[in-house]
Amino acid sequence: MAVTAEAGRLKAEGVDIVAFGAGEPDFATPDNIKQAAIRALDANFTRYTPAAGIPELRKAVCEWHKKDLDTNYEMAECIICVGGKHVIFNTMAAVVEHGDEVVLPVPYWVTFYDVINYHGGKAVRVETREDNGFRLTAADIERVLTPKTKMVIVNSPSNPSGAVVPPDEFERIYRLTSSRGILLLSDECYSHFVYDGKPFSIGSVEGAKPNVVVVGSLSKTYAMTGWRVGFALGPRALIEAINKLQSHSTSNPTSITQKAALEALTGPQDSVPRMLAEYRRRRDYVIPTLNGIPGVHCPEPGGAFYAYPNISCCFGKAGIASGMDFSTKLLHEAHVAVVPGEAFGTNEHVRISYAASMDDLQRGLERIRKFIVEKTS
Ligand SMILES: Cc1ncc(COP(=O)(O)O)c(C=O)c1O
Repeated sequence: MAVTAEAGRLKAEGVDIVAFGAGEPDFATPDNIKQAAIRALDANFTRYTPAAGIPELRKAVCEWHKKDLDTNYEMAECIICVGGKHVIFNTMAAVVEHGDEVVLPVPYWVTFYDVINYHGGKAVRVETREDNGFRLTAADIERVLTPKTKMVIVNSPSNPSGAVVPPDEFERIYRLTSSRGILLLSDECYSHFVYDGKPFSIGSVEGAKPNVVVVGSLSKTYAMTGWRVGFALGPRALIEAINKLQSHSTSNPTSITQKAALEALTGPQDSVPRMLAEYRRRRDYVIPTLNGIPGVHCPEPGGAFYAYPNISCCFGKAGIASGMDFSTKLLHEAHVAVVPGEAFGTNEHVRISYAASMDDLQRGLERIRKFIVEKTS
């Protein structure tokens, strides 16, 4: 967000910035969803709702999840929150005690790290390997588990790397954590944007429910980032605890948004494959283009809409010694906004969001290529 703010400041000064910083779809919310919100307003659906969300939406989440991800949750195992971020915050608040260890695969989405710390937990980093496309394995996790481990976080497809944990490996991770009574928090906010195979939820594994909390969101799937709607699927006791907390903090997610979310989940679904096809087209342009820049390496993402190239070829050149130096110079000299890897726990990378038009991708990547060639020659 800081990068986006600085890029916005330069833009306001009239600088032609190409922005790859923001982690949100560049598509408009589909019209049927917007119309549902307008209808809700016209019908004065503007009062408090149950804190956990309206029953028809909670049921719709369970049914939609069953249809698309093969799970079997009931309404009492589902709560609607103010975005996936809020689900994560609430879950940590309900589960993490002072001094508990929470395993966090690197590179991680920055919010996890700060929220663990905020709740008095200790983030235990587990490195993944770039040469394995940053895909997490059960063996990686096993190495860092201790008697104090309370929770393990898996985010697949990943922000920032786009890495997807294959279902069989994911199951191994689940068996490892559940056998030790550790809660597996599975952030599946990008579940519907996978390029190979079908969307997968760890909640679909037989018997997984007691030890898994699935974090979901409509933000990316339906291009609804500003609406703020996400959900948790998990053990009843945890959902009930989150409900109590939520009823005293935010109360219900916005009433109008809930009606829009209901339409998103139950109405026409054609926007989702359309967006996925477009992300795929962009990925198939972005990754080879990045790898075509001398010295740059970028694993192919299996999902989401992020590329996470290694730009350490520039280190030691023109005062660049980190992803942060690279991003700052790139923004000010080449007018391209990317996010430094430090935000995600690594030093040698930057995150490029390809939720941007093909025209911007072509212009921006050409600027990045020129910048790197200039710095390294
Ligand atoms: C991995 C991951 N989880 C959760 C979220 C939360 O999204 P929201 O709060 O908009 O649902 C994001 C947003 O960028 C994300 O990248």
